[in-house]
Amino acid sequence: MTKVRAIAVATLLALPAAQAADIEAGKAKVAAVCGACHGVAGVSVGETIPNLAAQRAGYIEAQLKVLKDGTRKNPVMNAIASQLTADEISNVAAYFASLPGAGAAAKSDFMPQLTKTGVTFPEGYDKSFVKYHTINFPATKQVRYYFANKAAVDAARAGKDLPNGAYLFAEVWSAKLDEAKNPVKGADGFFVADKQLFYTAMARDAGWGKDIPDMLKNEDWNYAVFTLDKKHRPNVNQAECLACHKPLDKVSYTFTLKELAAAK
Ligand code: HEC
Ligand code: HEC
Repeated sequence: MTKVRAIAVATLLALPAAQAADIEAGKAKVAAVCGACHGVAGVSVGETIPNLAAQRAGYIEAQLKVLKDGTRKNPVMNAIASQLTADEISNVAAYFASLPGAGAAAKSDFMPQLTKTGVTFPEGYDKSFVKYHTINFPATKQVRYYFANKAAVDAARAGKDLPNGAYLFAEVWSAKLDEAKNPVKGADGFFVADKQLFYTAMARDAGWGKDIPDMLKNEDWNYAVFTLDKKHRPNVNQAECLACHKPLDKVSYTFTLKELAAAK
């Protein structure tokens, strides 16, 4: 064996030890972030989120890699996985794999810092906010109307980041259906609204982001869903809102900033 090859072989043999996963570091990451949805002990908070306790480490790593590079698509997990390093991926995989599995009925609680929100119902928004946009949602047969307060509209028009005090609000309505159960369109091309279902909201103010883990934090934005009687809808996990809006950090975490800037 030549000297060069001997060194190469020695390096190869040394690799697995150098890459051994750090279960404690994985546990800390899960406690800080992943636990918001998958539960700190790998038992998830709800039906649409997989349990990861006792899952095989190799499978978890493989899924996180394809979620990170985007070949497996899920807006929430793409945003999360893109922020994980290769080491963090092996660490969290090793941690989840080390946990005992749970029965199908078991559920974890939401993280309290992600159920707390600074956003309150914007009384009188129909008079004081600007209605700046409408979107049809054919899949859910809904139409949404978007409103923004003056602080948000002024900043967007001036091409500035949305400041503290900015408030974006949406009314969610079911569409009126024809006999074939398809949404009826008005002359403007938008679905004709039938019944209002709920409201969604995002707003920011000083310090509102301070208890939110970095991988989820949208600066000082908080989120809320309101029922028709203007109360906070129970069981809203802000982790989902934050994760999906997180990649929009260059546009004030707002999907409709262009439309807002063009508001009349
Ligand atoms: C905001 C909620 C949320 C957070 C926070 C979150 N996840 Fe997820 N995760 C999901 C959802 C929802 C899915 C299911 C995705 C799908 O349907 O494709 C998922 C799927 C996964 C999967 C694939 C599981 C499978 O069976 O294929 C892995 C692995 C995973 N998450 C790991 C993590 C790790 C590690 C973290 C923390 C760094 C994390 N997740 C944080 C919501 C979340
Ligand atoms: C799966 C990704 C995803 C999740 C999760 C999500 N949003 Fe959004 N959000 C969007 C998209 C895309 C838009 C653009 C228009 C639309 O779909 O309504 C949007 C728009 C909004 C708007 C209008 C302002 C803007 O950004 O354009 C508000 C307010 C809002 N979302 C609140 C919420 C709240 C509250 C939650 C959590 C309960 C949430 N969102 C969860 C993707 C998401």
